[in-house]
Amino acid sequence: MEIRSHADNDALSQAAARLFQVQLTANPGLVVGLPTGGTPLGFYRQVVERQLDLSHSTAFNLDEYVGLSPDHPQSYASYMRENLLRHLPVGAWHIPNGQAADLEAECQRYEAAISAAGGLDLVFLGIGHNGHIGFNEPGTPLDARTRVVRLTETTRAANARFFPSPAEVPTQAISMGIKTILSARQVVLLASGRGKAEALLAAVTGPVTPAVPASALQTHPNVVVLVDAAAARLLPVA
Ligand code: PGA
Repeated sequence: MEIRSHADNDALSQAAARLFQVQLTANPGLVVGLPTGGTPLGFYRQVVERQLDLSHSTAFNLDEYVGLSPDHPQSYASYMRENLLRHLPVGAWHIPNGQAADLEAECQRYEAAISAAGGLDLVFLGIGHNGHIGFNEPGTPLDARTRVVRLTETTRAANARFFPSPAEVPTQAISMGIKTILSARQVVLLASGRGKAEALLAAVTGPVTPAVPASALQTHPNVVVLVDAAAARLLPVA
C-alpha cells in the first residue's frame, strides 16, 4: 500500500482526479469502479471541472440500495446522475438494480457484466467508520463477490444524513464483493475526515481480517491510499 498524504479533502480530491486523468490518458477505454458517499463529492467536482474524457470508458458503481428506484433522490443512481453523469458523457455506466425481482440473479448479472467488460482496471473506494469498503460490512468473507448485504446500524446511522428521516435508510444493498474489488488492477482508497482515523489505522496497520474489510487491501499489489490530515492523524509518522 502506498499512502499519500494531503492537507484536506480538497487536495485529496485533486490528487484523485489527477490520478484518474493519468490513467484515462494511458487507457481511454478504462474500466473503473466508482464510489458514492460524502468523501468522493470533491473528487467528482474535480473530474467535472477538469472535463476528464470518460466517453470511451466503462464505469461500474460499487453498490446500490435495495428497494430504491433509480429515480429515488437518495438512490446511488441519482447520486451519480447528479454528481457526474449529467455533467460528462460516460461511455457505458452500470449500477446494480436494487429493485430487481430476483436480487441474486441481479448480483450474478453484475459480476458477469464486469467480466464481460474485461474486468476492472481501477477502483476508487471510500472507507466506512467501521472499516467497510463498498457495503462490505465487518464480518464479510474476504472472498465475497457481488451480493445482497444487510447494512449495519452504524452504516445506516452514518448515511441517515442523506435521507429525510433515519427510518428511511434502506436495510439492504447490493454491493460488489471484496474479491470483486481486489480483482481490480489498481485500487485507490480515499480516506477523509477525523471520523475515519480509527478505521484507516486498522485498515493499513492492523491484521488482515474480516472484522476490518478494508484491511483486505493489504493483500493487493497495487493500492494507493489518499488520506487527508484529519483521517491520517493516528497513523505512525513515516
Ligand atoms: P462517506 O462514506 O464518504 O459518506 O463517509 C464512505 C463509505 O462509507 O465508504
